[in-house]
Amino acid sequence: MSQNTLKVGLLGCGHISRDHLVAWSRCENAKVIAVCDPMRDRAAAQAEAFGIEQVFTDPTAMMAEAGVDAVDIVTPRGTHAAMIRVAADNGLHALCEKPLCPTLAEAEALVAEIGGRIRVMVNENWRYRAYFTQIREWISTGRVGTVTQARMALWRSNMLERPDGIIPSLSRQPFVAKEERLLVAESLIHELDTARSLFGEMSVVASRLSRYSDRIIGEDAAAILLEADAGHAVVVEGVMTSAGHTFRAPNRLEIAGTRCSITLDDAVLRLHGAEEETIRYVEDDVRQGCFDAAIKHFVKSLTTGEPFKTSASDQLKTLKLVEDVYASAGALRRPSVVAPIESVPA
Ligand SMILES: NC(=O)c1ccc[n+]([C@@H]2O[C@H](COP(=O)([O-])OP(=O)(O)OC[C@H]3O[C@@H](n4cnc5c(N)ncnc54)[C@H](O)[C@@H]3O)[C@@H](O)[C@H]2O)c1
Repeated sequence: MSQNTLKVGLLGCGHISRDHLVAWSRCENAKVIAVCDPMRDRAAAQAEAFGIEQVFTDPTAMMAEAGVDAVDIVTPRGTHAAMIRVAADNGLHALCEKPLCPTLAEAEALVAEIGGRIRVMVNENWRYRAYFTQIREWISTGRVGTVTQARMALWRSNMLERPDGIIPSLSRQPFVAKEERLLVAESLIHELDTARSLFGEMSVVASRLSRYSDRIIGEDAAAILLEADAGHAVVVEGVMTSAGHTFRAPNRLEIAGTRCSITLDDAVLRLHGAEEETIRYVEDDVRQGCFDAAIKHFVKSLTTGEPFKTSASDQLKTLKLVEDVYASAGALRRPSVVAPIESVPA
């Protein structure tokens, strides 16, 4: 490990920590030297899998004693602010999983309190997905012409029970059962953030949130209508009870443009109209690749001093959209379920 290597401590060794640790293992000039989780066996398992020497169960002890320069916060959303406060007290820069905080008000208070003491980037990694990077390039180089309308959809079956009794979403991330703000705050926040990165700033016109599953308290279906400052409409929608779609089904997207339109479906990206181009992606590579790209950006920005694309301040704009979605939706709809949700094949 060279003198210039960024020494990192990772907090939270649950479901998504592996994607982070794989990304760190591929990142030059950085090394995870400590992991922490109150569930010691989880931290120990990741330490063994990735050859990390120090294992902690107490975040404060890790940040004070492990000799790290930065932390990667991969804990539940309600703990992020406390983690960042301790990081700031120890002068450690932080990469923090989304959402920065459960509400916009908490995030605003945190950003004001931290000020310039440390640098904080939010892991809004979806906008780093290879196909979205390509779409941004097509739009910015004029190949689409004027964008006239767009929609992004996340249709999955992850809240439907499989024949083996498993509900993928609840089995992979049990915490989602208790989240009052579920699909938008946990998943569609990625689409809203990515939409900002593609179309610029926007505002929420209307939204409708529903819950079909009896196993959760938050929404599992959402339809959101936005208006970009550029003037065109953007529709963002998601549903977790869509049979026939895999539990991790990738994004679908359509952009209408005056020169070319864009279609993304099943990881196949098409530019069509005045010219034709088709790019086929391997979804698993895109998925891991966006963690790799986000973590590389974090390390590079710390080294060069360039701003984070997804800084804590930038996250406030995405969280404002999330907040406005919940405010405009009003009470959660409970559409009458005419028949029980049927089991779907794995
Ligand atoms: N960017 C993405 O694509 C993506 C995907 C999934 C989850 N996430 C986000 O990552 C975060 C974690 O999600 P997850 O699915 O891994 O959750 P998880 O529940 O599987 O894991 C969280 C881990 O944090 C640990 N933990 C809780 N409190 C802690 C503390 N005070 N100190 C250290 N560890 C603590 C828990 O014991 C658990 O092991 C959430 O904010 C979630 O929204 C992001």
